[in-house]
Amino acid sequence: MTHAAQETFGEETVREAAEIIARYPQSRSALLPMLHLVQSVQGFVSPEGMRFCAEQLELSEAEVAAVATFYTMYKRSPCGQHLVSVCTNTLCAAMGGDAIYAKLREKLGLGERLEGNEETAGEPGEPGSLTLEHAECLAACDLAPVLQVDYEYFDKQTPESAAELVDRLRAGEAPAPSRGPGLRGFRSAERQLAGFFDGEAALESVVDGSSQAVETLRGAQIAAEHGWVAPEAEDVPIPEVEEGAK
Ligand code: FES
Repeated sequence: MTHAAQETFGEETVREAAEIIARYPQSRSALLPMLHLVQSVQGFVSPEGMRFCAEQLELSEAEVAAVATFYTMYKRSPCGQHLVSVCTNTLCAAMGGDAIYAKLREKLGLGERLEGNEETAGEPGEPGSLTLEHAECLAACDLAPVLQVDYEYFDKQTPESAAELVDRLRAGEAPAPSRGPGLRGFRSAERQLAGFFDGEAALESVVDGSSQAVETLRGAQIAAEHGWVAPEAEDVPIPEVEEGAK
């Protein structure tokens, strides 16, 4: 094991990193789940975590940093026990997402807005600590405004319902999401994103939760009731493209 890995990560994490790498024909393809593995251990992607990935994957630290700093799911500072992501994209914002975000900042006693997207209330990693972030569209616009806790959905929120949710999380409870599996904390979610489900019981809880909302299926149901179907591909006329426009 190399120096950085020895200092920050134990033998078990190195073994799991090797397991991830073995899933891919080229080791560099393992970088995304490796970064999730790092987050599951540290609660964020630290400089040591980037070095660890670089060493294990035989990449340069610059290559790892370029990826880790591009995707917002990779956090640059330690996250709380839970990550609360409030959608403030166009539709959710219009339906109250901005008001929810403002209410939660006030509720969590977050003062002046600092740099970066994430703000943490409480000691990161300790029970009841929460990291709050703005999120771009969470692909649940039909259930706006939505937020996620550890990437599980809480649909059709209001400032009041979101504040109550945060109170329960701060008290150490694990309120049931609107759909999908139950909450197990940010680091546990990160282990799953790295591809580790820690036993059959955890795996069952991942696949058992209903992932569909009634509203999401309604359009397909109406189409089925009316016998509406999408036209076959060959029925769609292909527009002429003028020579100079190619
Ligand atoms: S705008 Fe919030 S889920 Fe799409």
